[in-house]
Amino acid sequence: MTRHFRNLADLGDAQGLLSILDEADRQKEQRGRISERPLAGKQIALVFEKASTRTRLSLEVAVNELGGSPVVITQAGSQMGRGEPISDTARVLGRMVHGITFRTHDQSRLEEMIRYVDVPVLNALTDQSHPMQLCADLQTTRRHFGTLSGLKFAWIGDGNNMANSWLEAVGILRGTLHLACPKGFEVKRDLVEAARAQGAEVVLHEDPFEAARGAHVLSTDVFTSMGQESETAARLQAFAGYQLNSAVLKQADPKAIVLHCLPAHRGEEISEEVIEGPQSLVWDEAEARLHTSKALLLWAFGLL
Ligand code: CP
Ligand code: NVA
Repeated sequence: MTRHFRNLADLGDAQGLLSILDEADRQKEQRGRISERPLAGKQIALVFEKASTRTRLSLEVAVNELGGSPVVITQAGSQMGRGEPISDTARVLGRMVHGITFRTHDQSRLEEMIRYVDVPVLNALTDQSHPMQLCADLQTTRRHFGTLSGLKFAWIGDGNNMANSWLEAVGILRGTLHLACPKGFEVKRDLVEAARAQGAEVVLHEDPFEAARGAHVLSTDVFTSMGQESETAARLQAFAGYQLNSAVLKQADPKAIVLHCLPAHRGEEISEEVIEGPQSLVWDEAEARLHTSKALLLWAFGLL
């Protein structure tokens, strides 16, 4: 059966997710020394309906280093930008490539791509989720603390695609996540309940100081995600007080780390001193996109 990576749940249980992190660690440790080319002969389309730096770079390098050939298709540079339906684009892609990664708007567009192809499709961010990034965040966290067990995760800011994927991750791992989102920008109740039903401890706060108290991993993301640009001014107002800064970080465990998927807006969701400070692991986190992308590609092709 063709494997698709819509969300973290597609990897199975906690063991499935951890095996991606194990492979990502192997890829990191052996980088440049691996002569295997497991994706030799495979053409992989990297399709972007939204901008990207890290995801495009990491996937392009990952496919190349695994021996495959990446083909990048952007909205602006293709007929997708002129309104060609996903169903048509998908059927053309499906005839020429062996796998597809897709960054798009609503998750239903990812589903539509999947419906029209019989090659693996991987979610490279939608409005609802960013599971590739979560794999990188978890790899970074596990490499730092040596474990994912017993950690308190905190999310400060928008209840967006990244927050949703954190909820999914703690559900699978039965972890602890405290979130502080402004009124009107909270995570969806059904996702909170789903994570709790899996055994996660999810605590919702309004006050970022409360969410950060004793946390081992503090994460945030932009106030305005791609596609929400018309809401920028209103969001800036609504998110006042939701900056991950030194005062918030002081509430956390003294050994806490700070993550941000990037791109960051210094002075908005995160302060300069925190993102550039000693507890920030954002560059390791960005690098982890490469190693985890390799692991996810191998999984999608049934090689893991
Ligand atoms: N973190 C992340 O997905 O970055 P890009 O938008 O640059 O790909
Ligand atoms: N929430 C952000 C993540 C960017 C990697 C967005 O969707 O724009």
